[in-house]
Amino acid sequence: GGVGVGVTRPKRRLSRLITLALQNAFLTIIMHYSRISTAPSRTYSAATAVLLNELLKGAISVLIALKRIDATLSAPSSLSWSEKEDRREDPRPPSSFPSFIPTMLHPSRIRNLTKSVLSPDCYKLSVPAILYVIQNNLQYVAASNLDVATFQVTYQMKILTTAFFSVLMLRKRLSKGKWLSLILLAAGVGIVQIQSTAAPSHISPIVQTEGVQISKGNQLRSDIPQLNSERVMHPLRGFMAVTLACMTSGLAGVYFEFILKTQTGSGPAPDLWVRNTQLSFFSLVPAAVPILFARGPEGSSWLERVGGSFANFNGWAVGTVLTQTFGGLITAIVIRYSDNIMKGFATSLSIIISFLASVALFSYPITVAFVVGSSIVLLATYMYNAPSPPSSPTTRIQVAN
Ligand code: C5P
Repeated sequence: GGVGVGVTRPKRRLSRLITLALQNAFLTIIMHYSRISTAPSRTYSAATAVLLNELLKGAISVLIALKRIDATLSAPSSLSWSEKEDRREDPRPPSSFPSFIPTMLHPSRIRNLTKSVLSPDCYKLSVPAILYVIQNNLQYVAASNLDVATFQVTYQMKILTTAFFSVLMLRKRLSKGKWLSLILLAAGVGIVQIQSTAAPSHISPIVQTEGVQISKGNQLRSDIPQLNSERVMHPLRGFMAVTLACMTSGLAGVYFEFILKTQTGSGPAPDLWVRNTQLSFFSLVPAAVPILFARGPEGSSWLERVGGSFANFNGWAVGTVLTQTFGGLITAIVIRYSDNIMKGFATSLSIIISFLASVALFSYPITVAFVVGSSIVLLATYMYNAPSPPSSPTTRIQVAN
């Protein structure tokens, strides 16, 4: 019992953080490529991608919540625990429920989930929901206007906005050592960025061989063969999108954590997947608005315009949506079982992962700035997670004895 829990938990936590880091690295690359590999006139709609992401995430959250919800929730409390367990074992009523439908979709589960989702405090989720929809749209603006490395590195500034909101809203108290490691982290990220702007093109070889316009600062690099002459990146627009996305990321993440971890009223706090269902539910309206009011060719019907929003969804676009959905689910789990600040460290490691991948796959040169910056990022991660001073000597004594 006890030993098993002690051993598996940190391992699980670590594997979740590594999964998130890998997902982040992959998302940055695939999103950028999916955006810049076609002419703007043939690029899929970011708003549609955001909506599809929310729909998919919502559907998965509902299924997981249904699987986890107690089918006996509304059973009279006079039932003994074992009676409840019996019902849980076989929630099929003797009569009408057809056996070919999974028990997960049993009416009593659906009823209980609906009740949990429509709880009086569900409206709270509208705040992070709207913020996340804005953020997810901004991410596409940034990925379309900045190269992979610059986007990834500048987006790490969300670590500082997250720490700021965690202190403000969750009353987290960070020791001087932890603040120092956060500042080190930001500095390390900045140094990695120096290397990214100094190095030659660092986009995937697919892009390099097919060619694309890559802008550095405000200078357009035209020495690289161009994929399509219509595609131009606007770095300033990209940077503004990233800055806003860092704000919404910090605020929405911490707000979600606040809702998950603070007890309101009596009774147990709702399951993470009920919260996720509520989050997706409130995301649907802001995510659907741009599609419902989409403009289209003159004289086209509403249905044609809505249908047009789904045009150009090629494999890359679908891959981007799937990667983002997976990321949303793992992000929710990390926020629930660790916190937003730890999430920030995981995603900063994704920079190192994607650079190492570039070295291995695309023979990208390793520079001194990269080695120094990454080492600082790793050191900061270690420092942030090192046990606080009073507890470490005790641990050592225990080990020594
Ligand atoms: O960049 P950041 O880590 O803040 O991005 C978080 C992502 O995770 C957003 O795309 C957001 O929609 C998603 N998310 C989610 N469910 C949660 C929390 C975040 O899908 N409960």
